[in-house]
Amino acid sequence: MGKLEGKVALVTGGSRGIGKTISAVLAEAGATVIVNYANNSVHAEETVRNIRLSGGKAVAIQADITDEKMVGRLIQKAEEYSGTTIDILVNNATGPQPELSIEESTWNDYLDQLVFFVKAPLLLTKAVLPGMKEKQEGRIINIGSEVVQIGNPNFSSYVTAKSSQLGMTRSWASELGVHGITVNLIQPGFIPVERHEGIDPRDYVKNVPLKRIGLPQDIGAAVLFLASQDSSFITGQTLSVNGGNTFGI
Ligand SMILES: NC(=O)c1ccc[n+]([C@@H]2O[C@H](COP(=O)([O-])OP(=O)(O)OC[C@H]3O[C@@H](n4cnc5c(N)ncnc54)[C@H](OP(=O)(O)O)[C@@H]3O)[C@@H](O)[C@H]2O)c1
Repeated sequence: MGKLEGKVALVTGGSRGIGKTISAVLAEAGATVIVNYANNSVHAEETVRNIRLSGGKAVAIQADITDEKMVGRLIQKAEEYSGTTIDILVNNATGPQPELSIEESTWNDYLDQLVFFVKAPLLLTKAVLPGMKEKQEGRIINIGSEVVQIGNPNFSSYVTAKSSQLGMTRSWASELGVHGITVNLIQPGFIPVERHEGIDPRDYVKNVPLKRIGLPQDIGAAVLFLASQDSSFITGQTLSVNGGNTFGI
C-alpha cells in the first residue's frame, strides 16, 4: 500500500515542469491527484494520461489560481471528483519570471510575483482549510527557491516574493499546528524543465557540492516526504533541495 493511499492532493501548476513530476510521484504513492493548470490543456491531459497508464488516479482541472472565484470553483470541482476534501496542497505554480534591474522594475512587477507566491497560496489555503480542520489533519507544502539565500541580482521581484513564503510558511505553521496541519517550504535549486531548453547547466553545477544538476524527481521525493506520515512531526521548516548549493550561506 502506498504512503498516500486514500489521500487527495492538489498540485497547482501540476501539468508541466516540476509540478508534473510532483503529481506523478504523489499519484504513485496512492494519492488521488488534482492536476491544476492555467492555459495548456494538452500538457495537463498528457500528465493525467501518464498517471492513469501507471495505475494512478488523477484529473486535470483548469483554474487561474490568482483569481479568487476560480480558486473556489477549482476546490469545488476537486472535491466533487474525489468525493472528499483536499488533504495535501502543493503551492507550486509560477507565472513568467522576468529578470529586471531595479531601474527597469515597477511596483507592478513586484505585485505580479507576490500575486503568484503569496496571494494564490493564501486563496488556496483558505479554501482547503475547512476540510483540513474538520479532518484535524493536512499538509501544505510551498515551493520556494534557493534564490532567497543567494539574492540573485536583476531578479528582485521574484526573490522578494519567494522570500515572503518563508515568513508565511512559519506563521501558518504556528497557527495551524493545533489542527494537525503541517506547513513546510521546499527551496529547489536550478531544476531545468521544458522552459529551460537550450540553457547549459554546467556553470551552475560547478558550484554545487554534489556536482550534478537537480532533477524534478529530487523535488518530487522531498514533496512526498513532507506529504506523508513520515514527516508528521515536522512543520514550519525549510528544506533546500539543491545538492548543497546554499548550505554555507
Ligand atoms: N525550475 C526551476 O529551476 C526552479 C527553481 C527553483 C524554484 N522553482 C519553483 O518551482 C515551481 C515550479 O516551477 P517550474 O519551473 O516547474 O515552472 P513551469 O515549468 O514554468 O510550470 C509552471 C506551471 O504553472 C502553471 N501556471 C501558470 N500560471 C498559472 C495560473 N495563473 N494558475 C494556475 N497554474 C498556472 C502552468 O500551467 P500552464 O502550462 O497551463 O500555463 C504550469 O503547469 C515554481 O514555484 C518555481 O518558482 C523552480
